Formats: sequence, structure tokens, C-alpha cells
Amino acid sequence: MKKLVSLAVGMGMAVLTASTAQAISEAEINNDIAEFQGFFLKRFPGVALEDYVDGVNALPQYAHRRANWELMMDFPPYEPEMEKAEEEWSKAFANGKGFDDCNLAPANTYPVYDEASDDLRTLVADLNACLKANGEKPIKNVKRGKMARLIAHYKSQFNDEPMAVDFSAAGAQAWYEKGRQFYWAKRGQLNFSCADCHVANSGNSVRGDVLSAGLGHGVGFPVYRTKWSMSGKPWGTMHRRYGGCNKQVRASPFKAQGTEYKALEYYEAIMNTGVPLKVPSQRQ
Ligand code: HEC
Repeated sequence: MKKLVSLAVGMGMAVLTASTAQAISEAEINNDIAEFQGFFLKRFPGVALEDYVDGVNALPQYAHRRANWELMMDFPPYEPEMEKAEEEWSKAFANGKGFDDCNLAPANTYPVYDEASDDLRTLVADLNACLKANGEKPIKNVKRGKMARLIAHYKSQFNDEPMAVDFSAAGAQAWYEKGRQFYWAKRGQLNFSCADCHVANSGNSVRGDVLSAGLGHGVGFPVYRTKWSMSGKPWGTMHRRYGGCNKQVRASPFKAQGTEYKALEYYEAIMNTGVPLKVPSQRQ
């Protein structure tokens, strides 16, 4: 907790007041959102809230590579994959039902806090639960491939809808707090937090990569990535990306769909309140 506070002070942000013992309130979370977004809007004055949907491509420090990306977007490499995604989505289950019958929340409201189980429902978990409920096998690989394509297909129907994740329940606020601590805690041999790279150093370069702003994280996911396409697995969900970022600081990645990454996804989704969805996205 000490580290979290000192970093916040170092960045010139207001000290985050939460402690592990004390529950965080809805008003404090709203305050966190305003601070988080305000930090980036001030740091990158020419970049509007909705521009952050394009990840690192939105930042002025990436401008020299943006033209290249725009050219690629004339014929997005994920287009044939999106056709495949639609076929996979439309294929009926053995019982005659299909994904359209699944009980899903609007894409801009995930992860959804479920009071009864005191758990977060991710879109991945909801799709697998739906498969199971209909007597189908759940999808094993929840980080890439078919699962990512199905999510891309579903979320793309909600494009331009602003992120609006609910955190009004006390249990939800506890999940938020967990995610926030994860985001600001230093880890790995390099002793870096998510915030060290994606807040304090956003726009700066590390090993030839420009670091994206934490604002915008997730609204374009799943992403189709050139780097991942080299190994024939171009798609990645948020939890695949989280694993990669943990490895960058030589920390062991956590399990996709496990407690840590669900909480982290929840925190990032809430920080993006009001940022529109843009799915799928292409990334380097
Ligand atoms: C050592 C620096 C570093 C740390 C620490 C780090 N990342 Fe990253 N992250 C990167 C780089 C480099 C990329 C690729 C360029 C970019 O989009 O920022 C990236 C990309 C991402 C993206 C994809 C953004 C997009 O729109 O494509 C997300 C989401 C992300 N990081 C989340 C996290 C989270 C959450 C943590 C903490 C667990 C974290 N990162 C820690 C360096 C870091």
C-alpha cells in the first residue's frame, strides 16, 4: 500500500485513500475514474477521450507509425477472420439452440458483478457457461482462437457504445479494490506495476515500443496482432495480453479467467467508463 501511495504522489495525482481494511465507496470509485481519465487528458492534450480506443496508435509519440497502421486499416487483416467468427457464432448447438439464445449482458457492461455468487461474470465465462448449459463442450483455450473470435463477433455489435460497468454493489466494490491494488502494485524482477508503464510512462518508449495509455485498455479487445500472427495465432483476449505484460517484467503470469485477471479486467473496464467500444482492433 505504501508503494501505491508514493507512486501516486510522485505522479502528481491525488493520494489514493483506500486501504485494505476499509471498503471503498461508489463515490470514491467515481473519483478514481475522474482522476485516471483526467491524468491522460492533461498529459496528451490533443487526444480526446474517444481517441483512446485506438490504443497506442492514438498517442502523438506514435505518430510516425500511425500512417502505416492507417494504410493497413484500408484492408484490415482480421476481416476474413471476422467472417469465420460469424459462421462460428451462427452454427447451431446440437439441441437446436445457438449463441443468440445465450443470456448475455450488453458487451459494454462486462465484467458483470453477480451478487449471488459474489463473482465477476466475464464474457468468456458467460459463453462457456452457455455452451455447458446447452450440453455443448466449453471452449478450453480462453485466450485465443475460437473464443477470441466469438467475443469479437459479439462485441462488434456494440461498437460505439460507451463502457458502462456497474459497481454499485458492495461486493462489486471489493472486486474493484482487488483489481486496483493489482494494477498499482509492483511485481516481477523488474519491479514494475501496470501503472508504471501505462500511466507514469505512457507515451514513452521501452525497448522500441511506445507504451499505450491505460485509458482505452480493453475497449478494442480481442485484438488481432501482427506479432501473434507470426505464430499462426493472431487473436488475443485481454487475459492473453495481461500474461504477456506480466512476463515483460519477468513476473509469472496468472491464470486466464482466474481471480487476479478478472479483478484487473474489472478495474480497467471501470477506468474506461464512457470510452466507446471498437472491436476488433489491429495491433502491432
Ligand atoms: C514494462 C512495461 C509494461 C508493464 C509493467 C505492463 N505493460 Fe502492458 N504493455 C506494454 C507494452 C510494451 C505493450 C504494447 C504496446 C502498448 O499497447 O502499450 C503493452 C500493452 C498492453 C495492453 C494492450 C493495449 C492495447 O490496446 O492494445 C494492455 C491492455 C496492457 N498492456 C495492460 C497491462 C496491465 C494490466 C499491466 C499490469 C499487469 C501491464 N500492462 C504491465 C508494457 C508493459
